[in-house]
Amino acid sequence: MNLKFNFDLKPRHRQLIEIIRSHWGALVLAGICMLIMAGGEAATAWLMKPAVDDVIIDRDRTMLLIIPIVILVVYLVKGTAMYFQGYLMNRVGRSIIREFRNKLYDHIHDLPLSFFHSEKTGVLMSRIINDVNIIKSMVSNAVTGSLRDACSVIALTTTTFMLDWKMASFTFLVLPAAFYPIHAFGRRIRKISTRGQIAMAELSTFLHETFAGAKIIKAFGMEDYEKARFFNKTKNLYKIEMKEVKVDELSSPVMELIGGIGIAVGIYYGGYRIFHNTLTPGTFFAFISATAMLYRPVRKLNKLNIYIQRGLAATDRIYDILERESEIVEKETPIPIPSGSHHVVFENVCFHYDQDGDNKELVLDHVSLDAQPGEVVALVGMSGGGKTTLVNLLPRFYDISAGAILIDGIDIRDADIASLRRQIAIVTQEPILFNESVRNNIAYGNAEASDEAIEQAARDAYAYDFIKNMPEGFETPIGELGNRLSGGEKQRLCIARALLKDAPILILDEATSALDSEAEVVVQKALENLMKGRTTFVIAHRLSTITHAHRILVLVKGRIVEKGTHEELLNRDGAYRKLYNMQFGNS
Ligand SMILES: Nc1ncnc2c1ncn2[C@@H]1O[C@H](COP(=O)(O)OP(=O)(O)OP(=O)(O)O)[C@@H](O)[C@H]1O
Ligand SMILES: [Mg+2]
Repeated sequence: MNLKFNFDLKPRHRQLIEIIRSHWGALVLAGICMLIMAGGEAATAWLMKPAVDDVIIDRDRTMLLIIPIVILVVYLVKGTAMYFQGYLMNRVGRSIIREFRNKLYDHIHDLPLSFFHSEKTGVLMSRIINDVNIIKSMVSNAVTGSLRDACSVIALTTTTFMLDWKMASFTFLVLPAAFYPIHAFGRRIRKISTRGQIAMAELSTFLHETFAGAKIIKAFGMEDYEKARFFNKTKNLYKIEMKEVKVDELSSPVMELIGGIGIAVGIYYGGYRIFHNTLTPGTFFAFISATAMLYRPVRKLNKLNIYIQRGLAATDRIYDILERESEIVEKETPIPIPSGSHHVVFENVCFHYDQDGDNKELVLDHVSLDAQPGEVVALVGMSGGGKTTLVNLLPRFYDISAGAILIDGIDIRDADIASLRRQIAIVTQEPILFNESVRNNIAYGNAEASDEAIEQAARDAYAYDFIKNMPEGFETPIGELGNRLSGGEKQRLCIARALLKDAPILILDEATSALDSEAEVVVQKALENLMKGRTTFVIAHRLSTITHAHRILVLVKGRIVEKGTHEELLNRDGAYRKLYNMQFGNS
């Protein structure tokens, strides 16, 4: 008999079983409640016998009082068991959901930045929201179902064999036939369910994008287009769901048919035996009722396999993420970078994104630079030249493909990542703020900062006045402001955050690009104060903001084509002078 149920247990499934097993206490209690419930059901059925024989036929008045009371007690006990069984199973299921959500979130944030570029936000959200739910439904149903139904199947099958083993053997000849559809339906469900979850993840990506991009959709009059796309996606999801329904709903009638065949064979064989007086009618009826009662738990076990297949498919998707390893790994004994000013060296650094793909086009091509402590290095050049990429390598957001980056002579690949990142304050090209109060955004990663320090950082970033004008000042939640903050305001909050971090290495990627000239002059001054004694990398398109840099590097297509001070470069008739003339219009 093929009892394998397609449970190809991989290590990840074993881990799932481990997690389920860690809730054994609640599961055992729930199991006991299930047994009590089953006992209650049997008792209710059994009570019909005295109800008929003693009360109705023998007209026994004491029994007339006793039986209703006993029935009430049985129902009370059964009801209590039912409540606790439901409560306990949900507790286990929901704890598992929570564990998986936390595990996923915990792991995802340990993955490098490249992971977030390769995976869509909507897909990750769907993993954390939908897939874990499927696991819960598998756990609740599988554990509840398997325990109760397996007990019933064993008890009833044993009964039939005890009644008449020959007839039982005949009847159960059909059983192997029953396991084939169980197996087939399970496999099919697993496939369809995977497709369903992919469609669900697509839907959630789509929602994420189109709600975030509502402005552009309106501006370009694309509402109808996006609606049509959405309707298409729900149609696709609906089709997949209906496919799943077809298999799901087909499985019961098929099982019933197989059961019917078994009973038909039993009746034919049993009746034949009765004709020949080798079987009593009582045994015959008891046998047929036991077989008929077997149908329910067997059908449930079939459904159980469907739940398990669906759950295993979800488990696979979740472990695909959980087993993803970070390519940015720390050495076994990483060297901590002490605080203080730093000497930063890039030695023949080459870099390409897509480390394991085929796109080996170099974004940085043998870049070398040497930034002394306290030196301000400006990076200028065409858009797409690799400036942001270059500064992203320093906090080890990505690992370089060749060459080395050294901080005070320590290769950053040997350094303790947390200590490395503590040395760096960064204002990114895109301002990123979180749905928290303005204060917490400025004090991000700096929880013990004093109010004075926070306010001073805001003042230096030229942000104090507009913060004070907000409804609740520093306590105003960014989320409630929605998109009310202007680009320049967001940028100033990000600058304040970097100022407060007060780190020895400063990275400013177009930090003042969204400010007006007046604000820029003031913020520039604050930044210049801050740059003193710090190794600073400034990226700017507006050359006016970097004229005071100690050194300017011109980066074109991943190569440093020129380096020198503003004056040196202007005197040279090169790329920098061309850029400068373009901006200031004097050729
Ligand atoms: N995550 C990424 N994956 C793959 N390619 C990327 C990624 N980020 C940037 N690139 C590519 O690397 C090149 C350099 O990009 P980078 O953002 O460093 O340019 P940049 O000099 O900062 O430009 P800009 O001045 O416009 O900000 C570009 O061709 C860009 O398309
Ligand atoms: Mg950039």
